[in-house]
Amino acid sequence: MSEKKVYLQPVPVRIWHWLNALGIVTLCISGAQIRFPEYVAIFSSYRSAILLHNTAGIVVALSFSIWFFYYKIVAGNLADIYIPKKSDLTTGLFRQVVFYFFAYFFGAPNPHHATPENKFNPLQKSAYLGIMFVLMPIVSLSGILLMNVGPMREIVLLIGGLKILVAIHFLSCCSLSAFILTHVYLATLGSTPMAYLKPMWTGWEKVEDVKGACHENKQSYQQN
Ligand code: HEM
Repeated sequence: MSEKKVYLQPVPVRIWHWLNALGIVTLCISGAQIRFPEYVAIFSSYRSAILLHNTAGIVVALSFSIWFFYYKIVAGNLADIYIPKKSDLTTGLFRQVVFYFFAYFFGAPNPHHATPENKFNPLQKSAYLGIMFVLMPIVSLSGILLMNVGPMREIVLLIGGLKILVAIHFLSCCSLSAFILTHVYLATLGSTPMAYLKPMWTGWEKVEDVKGACHENKQSYQQN
């Protein structure tokens, strides 16, 4: 089976992804100091941790807009890329879980073959859908409310008060941190540890030239 290079990650997606990753890691570290100042003292003062946390929050919100604008308006394929199909949920998800938990360790090939039109496997699709459409909005909106408790007092009260808002923000951030650990681990499970990381930097991924693979967008493929 020969190898092909597929253009999977357009420039705006890569810019969003690495800005977002830098911002989220900064948020986790500065957030740990804000939440547990008696145990975590990475930044010079509590005040500087808050300033950095707020700035990183704005960077993440702006980069989220790049992601949304690119997929929804420019490429127009947000739903196709991120929303799992019925077959993804009925059989694909199970097949992919079996691969990661079992078959991978026996050297079996990945059952999913990425194409620009269908670049995520069913597990990635489901996870990314939850992260980008549920968790990220919850983390961001609760963060924006916490930054503006005074002016947005009515909304804070509607949610159940400051304690509830802090709990929502903290628990959703813990879930996001758990996602990042799993995400980084799964990102190293390509044919080599860098096989999935490199395309997120260069845009191009090496894939097996599977018979019958979809070759609609010829400019997105290079024969090796
Ligand atoms: C901190 C270090 C991170 C590393 C090393 C990393 C690595 C990667 C890699 C290699 C990919 C491409 C392969 C794939 O689709 O799985 C990817 C895609 C993705 N990552 Fe990350 N990631 C990081 C952080 C994050 C964070 C913090 C988020 C969100 C909160 C995130 C969300 C995503 C999403 C949604 C995609 C799919 C992007 C697309 O093609 O539309 N990543 N990441």
